[in-house]
Amino acid sequence: MDLEKNDTLFRFVVSEMRHLRGGVAIAILRSLCIAPLPWLFGMMIDRHVPAADVRGLLVTSWIFAALLLLHMAFAITAARKIGGGVTEIVKDLRSLIFNRLQFLHFGYLDRSTSGRLLSKYAFDTQKVQDITVLMLNQFLPTTCYGFSVMFIMLLVDWRLSLVVLLIMPMVVTARIFFRKKLKRQNQEVRLAQEKLTGSANEMISALRLVRSLGEETKAEHRLKSDNHDVAETRVGLINISSVFGTYIFVNNQFVSLIVVCAGAIMVIEGQMSVGVLFSFVAALPIIMQPFTMVTQFIEQYAMGQESYRSIRELVCSRYVEQWKGDSFPAEFRGDIRFRNVRFAYPSKENTPVFESLNLHIRAGESVALVGASGSGKSSIANLILGLYSISGGQIEVDGMTQDQLDMRRFRRQCAIVLQENILLSGSIMENIRFAKSEATDEEVRQAAIDANADEFIRNLPEGYHSIIGERGVSLSGGQKQRLSIARAILRNPRVLILDEATSALDNESEALIQQALERLSRGRTVITIAHRLSTIRNADRIIVLGDGRILEEGDYETLRKANGAFSVMSGMG
Ligand SMILES: Nc1ncnc2c1ncn2[C@@H]1O[C@H](COP(=O)(O)OP(=O)(O)O)[C@@H](O)[C@H]1O
Ligand SMILES: [Mg+2]
Repeated sequence: MDLEKNDTLFRFVVSEMRHLRGGVAIAILRSLCIAPLPWLFGMMIDRHVPAADVRGLLVTSWIFAALLLLHMAFAITAARKIGGGVTEIVKDLRSLIFNRLQFLHFGYLDRSTSGRLLSKYAFDTQKVQDITVLMLNQFLPTTCYGFSVMFIMLLVDWRLSLVVLLIMPMVVTARIFFRKKLKRQNQEVRLAQEKLTGSANEMISALRLVRSLGEETKAEHRLKSDNHDVAETRVGLINISSVFGTYIFVNNQFVSLIVVCAGAIMVIEGQMSVGVLFSFVAALPIIMQPFTMVTQFIEQYAMGQESYRSIRELVCSRYVEQWKGDSFPAEFRGDIRFRNVRFAYPSKENTPVFESLNLHIRAGESVALVGASGSGKSSIANLILGLYSISGGQIEVDGMTQDQLDMRRFRRQCAIVLQENILLSGSIMENIRFAKSEATDEEVRQAAIDANADEFIRNLPEGYHSIIGERGVSLSGGQKQRLSIARAILRNPRVLILDEATSALDNESEALIQQALERLSRGRTVITIAHRLSTIRNADRIIVLGDGRILEEGDYETLRKANGAFSVMSGMG
């Protein structure tokens, strides 16, 4: 599957032809069955009628019916084969997207909302599927019919065929003009719709806020005008479409009129037989169909191309993690060293978080990071895990740089507990086990006990098998926190990062969690990021960050007495 080289949906489909070859061949055969049909009509009239040959008429009818049946059989087989092939391609495409998501740089994830990524995965792939099927299963056969019938008609009578060929461009230009109008109106409807969905979505998710502030009328008012716009643009669309529908009908009849009239004159002048004229009348709708379809198809294709582009943008993104190293220390200790690190978030290249940061966290040491919000504490955690790349200096783990190190393996030796913890839908057991899939039930339970979570879990109606998430039990912030600590414990990491792991909690659950964390911290490299100074009193070393550098460091008592930034903070706290 190569999206890099194939910049359009069409090229992509061609490059995947090995899945589709059989179906496409049959789809073409299918149209060849149709090609002689109008000509057979002409034969019936010109040959069998004057000779009063009923038997001949029946034989021709049999041939006609047999061709139709054959066409049907081919059509069904082709649809099935093409459908199967395209599904196969789209399945691969989805796996490819998901695989890319796993390797994407966090800088890319920062720029894209999860909704946007989800829609690439779910909707854009579906669109690509639909358009590809439309292209191969409808547009291609219809075009083949059209051209093969046209070819036969050229052989039957080139002059009348020429008349047909001359009116087609006129028809097509008029249609394109109409389609443009329709498209513009469609776009307006879509924009209005998107706006309405957006504001409705916002209002619905902010329902609690709106209600608790008593601002219902304001919210209703905002929705009302968007709602009105949608209705307005829809009416416009209905008007244009109905005119368009009438236009198409009249237009088709008009084309028939021109052909019949020109043909009839030729018959009167003795230049053409009635049967030939008859076959032209039968052929006309088949010849016109691709012309009718092309305008619609172009529009559909443009949407498919847009979806393809959006998928390609993700799949061919340069924002993939650059870690290619495959070394790993024989005995992993968890010694972390920042040397002159320069770092800026990809979205803010010009305002680096750190210009030149030096920091050494020894194996087994417990370090606390404090500092005002925005001083770069979480950034240090992100950098240790290699979630972003640095633009200067080195980060070394046990003496190896991140370039040399197998970063995925390194991350499996780490655990991070955040303030906002992410639980997956599923049972409690599965959630804890996510950190170590081979853990036994007993190990999971032990981890929960160490995290002070076992008691509340056992009190749930279904204990460890209770389902959490939208339709399951809801947990308090402290409970969720203890589950994620259990996860970290189960993992038994060498490096543990706690990023404001307790700041959202009340005092009681904080005490429970604090105990759990202290148990968890023993014998590991621990980096604690905290607001509350009570949490970090026991750290071996406290590092005070500010202005992109280390302002002060030392143990709790030393810093308190030093009259620096820390004593100001602790004086307040
Ligand atoms: N994903 C991000 N993209 C861009 N800028 C970010 C991102 N995360 C944090 N920042 C910016 O980087 C700086 C440091 O942030 P952070 O490390 O989160 O601070 P802290 O954890 O100390 O509050 C802040 O100025 C913040 O606005
Ligand atoms: Mg932070």
